[in-house]
Amino acid sequence: MARKKLTIVGAGNVGATAAHWAAAKELGDIVLVDIVEGIPQGKALDLLEAGPVELFDARIVGTNNYEDTADSDVVIITAGIARKPGMSRDDLQKTNAGIVKSVAEQAVKYSPNAIFIVVSNPLDVMAYVTFKATGLPRQRVVGMAGILDTARYRAFIAQEVGVSVEDIQALVLGGHGDDMVPLASYTTISGIPLSQFLSKERIDALVQRTRDGGIEIVNYLKTGSAYYAPSAAAVQMALLLKK
Ligand code: NAI
Ligand code: 2OP
Repeated sequence: MARKKLTIVGAGNVGATAAHWAAAKELGDIVLVDIVEGIPQGKALDLLEAGPVELFDARIVGTNNYEDTADSDVVIITAGIARKPGMSRDDLQKTNAGIVKSVAEQAVKYSPNAIFIVVSNPLDVMAYVTFKATGLPRQRVVGMAGILDTARYRAFIAQEVGVSVEDIQALVLGGHGDDMVPLASYTTISGIPLSQFLSKERIDALVQRTRDGGIEIVNYLKTGSAYYAPSAAAVQMALLLKK
């Protein structure tokens, strides 16, 4: 079977860290694209040189040219600006819509059969921008946030109750913003309802912390937003490459 090809657009915090997770999981060959010259090339080469230490085999290329992305199986879009303290995800909309439209148009030209995973914010709007810009059927354009929001919710519960994240079954629905919906009454720990471990007040507090999960990190970092968990979540979606 031919090795799969993953393109990641945006070689910033989320994009470069996604390349790292993807290489470690041997998802396939990786192309890292950015508008800034040198950054994707340098990060890709650095990551390639980690292969003999971590024992992964992958061709990893950094580029400013979409021709190098040709025939990708999956394209992850992380290009754009990120939040700083005081900014909502919606404050990014105008700038990122232009960036995402342009990268989606260029990427689909060279990879018309790819599945597009969108990360750039405001996520739900950018997924729609990508859907319109690519002209792909809706099943081929998906936003990444549900895995991230669910992961945050599970991490907070595990920390509070003192159990493994692996034992928590949970789901967060809705948009990636204030309207996200952690399904507290369907959350269980090894099949036992969460309400048997925590009071309603504590559960409500964890639900609110999940809704505010992005801004909690922005307020710590001050210069940008979260990237370890977001990139891990995007790569989890791209694991379909392995199927
Ligand atoms: P970053 O600033 O570290 O990286 C963004 C990269 O995009 C930069 O390297 C920049 O040069 C590049 N870029 C800008 N315009 C471009 C263009 N036209 N073509 C190619 N590359 C271009 O930002 P970070 O932290 O990586 O975040 C990226 C985006 O992802 C932001 O919009 C952020 O809000 C969003 N995000 C979404 C999450 C989600 O759950 N959906 C979670 C975390 C971040
Ligand atoms: C997050 O939730 C900023 O949307 C990004 O971390």
